[in-house]
Amino acid sequence: MALPKACVIGAGSSGIAAAKALADRGIPFDCFEKSDRVGGNWVLGNRNGMSSAYSTLHINTSRERMEYADYPMPASYPDFPRHDQIARYFDAYVEHFGLRERITFETGVEHVTRDEDGLWEVTLEDGQTRRYDALLVANGHHWDPRWPEPPLQGSFDGELIHSHHYREPSQLQGRRVVVIGMGNSAMDIAVDASYHAAATTLIARSGVHVVPKYILGKPLDAAVRPTRIPFPWLLAGMQLLLRFTVGPMERYGLPDPEHRLGRAHPTVSTRILDRLAHGEIEVKRGIERLDGREVLYTDGTRAPVDLIVCCTGYKISFPFFDEDLFAAPENRLDLYKRVFAPRHPGLYLIGFVQPWGAIMPIAELQGRLVGDHLLGEYALPTPAAMQRDIARMLRRQERRYLASKRHTLQVDFANYAVELEDERRAGAQRARAQSFAPAIPARAGASEQPQATPAA
Ligand SMILES: Cc1cc2nc3c(=O)[nH]c(=O)nc-3n(C[C@H](O)[C@H](O)[C@H](O)COP(=O)(O)OP(=O)(O)OC[C@H]3O[C@@H](n4cnc5c(N)ncnc54)[C@H](O)[C@@H]3O)c2cc1C
Ligand SMILES: NC(=O)c1ccc[n+]([C@@H]2O[C@H](COP(=O)([O-])OP(=O)(O)OC[C@H]3O[C@@H](n4cnc5c(N)ncnc54)[C@H](OP(=O)(O)O)[C@@H]3O)[C@@H](O)[C@H]2O)c1
Repeated sequence: MALPKACVIGAGSSGIAAAKALADRGIPFDCFEKSDRVGGNWVLGNRNGMSSAYSTLHINTSRERMEYADYPMPASYPDFPRHDQIARYFDAYVEHFGLRERITFETGVEHVTRDEDGLWEVTLEDGQTRRYDALLVANGHHWDPRWPEPPLQGSFDGELIHSHHYREPSQLQGRRVVVIGMGNSAMDIAVDASYHAAATTLIARSGVHVVPKYILGKPLDAAVRPTRIPFPWLLAGMQLLLRFTVGPMERYGLPDPEHRLGRAHPTVSTRILDRLAHGEIEVKRGIERLDGREVLYTDGTRAPVDLIVCCTGYKISFPFFDEDLFAAPENRLDLYKRVFAPRHPGLYLIGFVQPWGAIMPIAELQGRLVGDHLLGEYALPTPAAMQRDIARMLRRQERRYLASKRHTLQVDFANYAVELEDERRAGAQRARAQSFAPAIPARAGASEQPQATPAA
């Protein structure tokens, strides 16, 4: 039986995990990557212009939580490796599993449409158009800067950049720097500024629970393993521990958060608290207006500033889709199990989650689910059932996380990983009941099937 032919967009950590799942199952696919290498965000100065990495970047999800289940990181790596070690790990992954030659490098996907037969028409940078039965989108969601909304008022004669454009501390050297935000980019850049800049001001519009990388001598996320125990229960224990170890944020000059731990994406930084405690970072609640070379703060004070770094997050963007075909308005993606678009059979999103935990093992599980689906071994529920599940997921999301464009993709890694495995089993039962009928017809002309290796 001919299998559907798939196209994977992107060979970052999500795209390569998906490509492996397809290769393991003998599903014919092309994987197109804009850059000359794999690793996406983790390649500092990536020639695709899409990496948000900086020279001082280390992962904030520990090595054991971030590695793929079927390819551990080298034991010689520290708990929180640097960006280049992570990039090398992804490179070794494609080498180990023979995936490199399956990826077409320096070939961006320009445009994707759906033809009248329901096939995906993929136009590449070189003008070629190819047709596919299935489209796996893994173009990442941390590369398109979200600038402050509403925009900063007034005019500024200094330099204004987004954290996406921050590469190394020399950009901060000797300058009076304002860092906007309380997410992980803001923490890292404010810490760098506290060592290199002439003065550092951090704009904390909302209070957050800053959590250290280690707790009780172990990486904080060591406890974040796939489990059916509701993650908020684990968080309650963690919050108690943090109360005794870190103490109130006010103690460090930060606003105390108005929400419980875990209602927002975690801000993980051991060093920021230290730099605040040393008086090397000043905290303000907001910017009223920019005034030439000065910044007027909401507390009525003003100060000269050379550089403002907006660490205000990212937008989910699919530049290759026309907006009326597929988009993420307000950063929202209404997907079944965060992967399947009920209105678009044959479209799958990989890595479009923001976990308390790492994205890579999730992309691996999502890739397997899609791989099984394309083999006919995992069947989806009816579109109406998927819509009901999505509505439930959105209600849960509203209860669980603060309403914000930051939190539209938020999942609890520990519970979501189990949910994906449960779903794989439930979908296998549905497939059995349908005598393993192909989920997606193979019409894109996959004539010769490569030999399948045993599925993981
Ligand atoms: C500063 C920073 C630190 C982070 N730290 C962590 C962390 O510690 N742990 C964690 O789990 N996550 C972290 N993240 C989240 C990050 O999104 C993931 O680590 C990871 O990069 C996601 O991989 P991805 O493959 O989905 O996306 P990306 O890494 O962005 O890769 C996408 C790939 O798709 C390619 N591509 C895009 N568009 C096209 C196109 N049109 N045609 C062809 N190819 C295309 C790109 O060239 C790129 O190679 C961090 C994010 C940032 C910004
Ligand atoms: N490995 C690492 O160490 C590392 C480093 C950097 C980033 N990352 C990851 O990369 C992803 C993106 O992180 P990020 O920090 O860039 O973005 P983010 O998590 O979306 O955080 C954006 C921050 O900017 C604030 N903000 C937005 N608009 C603002 C405005 N107009 N005025 C003041 N504050 C404003 C938000 O506050 P509100 O909450 O009030 O909206 C929030 O604190 C996350 O997954 C993160 O974990 C990881």
